[in-house]
Amino acid sequence: MNDQNTILRVEDLRVRFRTRRGDVRAVDGVNLELNRGEILGLVGESGCGKSVTAQAVMRLIGDGRGEEVSGRVELDGEDLLQKSEKEMTKLRGRRISMIFQDPMTSLNPVYTVGNQIAEVPLLHEKVTRRDAYARAVGMLETVGIPSPKERARRFPHEFSGGMRQRSVIAMSLCCKPEVLIADEPTTALDVTIQAQILDLLQDLRRDFGTAIILITHDLGVVAEVCDRVAIMYAGGIVEQAPAGELFRKPRHPYTQGLLASLPKIGDRGILKAIEGRPPDLMNLPEGCRFAPRCPHAFGKCSEYPPLERVAEEHDAACWLEKKHE
Ligand SMILES: Nc1ncnc2c1ncn2[C@@H]1O[C@H](COP(=O)(O)OP(=O)(O)OP(=O)(O)O)[C@@H](O)[C@H]1O
Ligand SMILES: [Mg+2]
Repeated sequence: MNDQNTILRVEDLRVRFRTRRGDVRAVDGVNLELNRGEILGLVGESGCGKSVTAQAVMRLIGDGRGEEVSGRVELDGEDLLQKSEKEMTKLRGRRISMIFQDPMTSLNPVYTVGNQIAEVPLLHEKVTRRDAYARAVGMLETVGIPSPKERARRFPHEFSGGMRQRSVIAMSLCCKPEVLIADEPTTALDVTIQAQILDLLQDLRRDFGTAIILITHDLGVVAEVCDRVAIMYAGGIVEQAPAGELFRKPRHPYTQGLLASLPKIGDRGILKAIEGRPPDLMNLPEGCRFAPRCPHAFGKCSEYPPLERVAEEHDAACWLEKKHE
């Protein structure tokens, strides 16, 4: 993977929340690379730090009291963690955008959808209000909203859930950002609409060249749309690989457990859940964080395993890889 191909590089990202009960290490050593124009799936159990990672990358956390963020988040070589809030305001929506699980988080109920989308180019580009509004209507059409001109005059509550999410996607892509982070964009939608939104994201990636981080806990979604996958466990990335390779040859016992818990066609429907629970983020073990649940754990696992190359474009953080060397 050469540098020119990488649009977003996250290095040793750490986020701590100071609470009365102690420090929560929500993200603890995340390393990620997103290539231009690719869709990277970020997968892991609830609470493993996916949303906090996304919010830290967007600099939506880190400036508040009790929040501590460290590491590097390079967008095309520039460290976003070093930018001022003013510089970030110029970047967000123009070069890097985020969509949230619940579209109402991003939509303001008191403005029409057309006017809200038009605000994005008005903020970032030298355009007239009329041109910005025309762009908004064009984007609504691009994301597949029927009668976009008429719809643009409506308010968010007059839209269905799927149409709201399409509107949010229109808003986030209006200025053609290089990177889009989609945090569980389809979880709140029913299955048919989910599939349509995933298709839409793929089309937009193709047409706009936007690189996408797709956060999900659904490996079925990953198999369908992602080029590469990063598996997250207790605040860190434990494995990353091209999607096909990861499904064929998962290296980390956690990934193997996730895949084994997937129902397969022809199965009698017996799911093998991974036994045990993720560690307490206030009290992370020194060594491998998965070791307490791992069927293969051995002595070396009391040390922290770094994420290392195990095959072409395939990284894993597991001492088993070294056991037989
Ligand atoms: N402001 C905060 N203060 C303290 N702890 C927090 C705060 N925000 C998040 N956390 C904790 O950080 C951890 C990671 O949360 P995060 O929302 O990133 O999980 P997630 O992987 O997105 O989970 P899900 O799949 O449920 O969305 C959780 O244990 C959460 O309770
Ligand atoms: Mg989340």
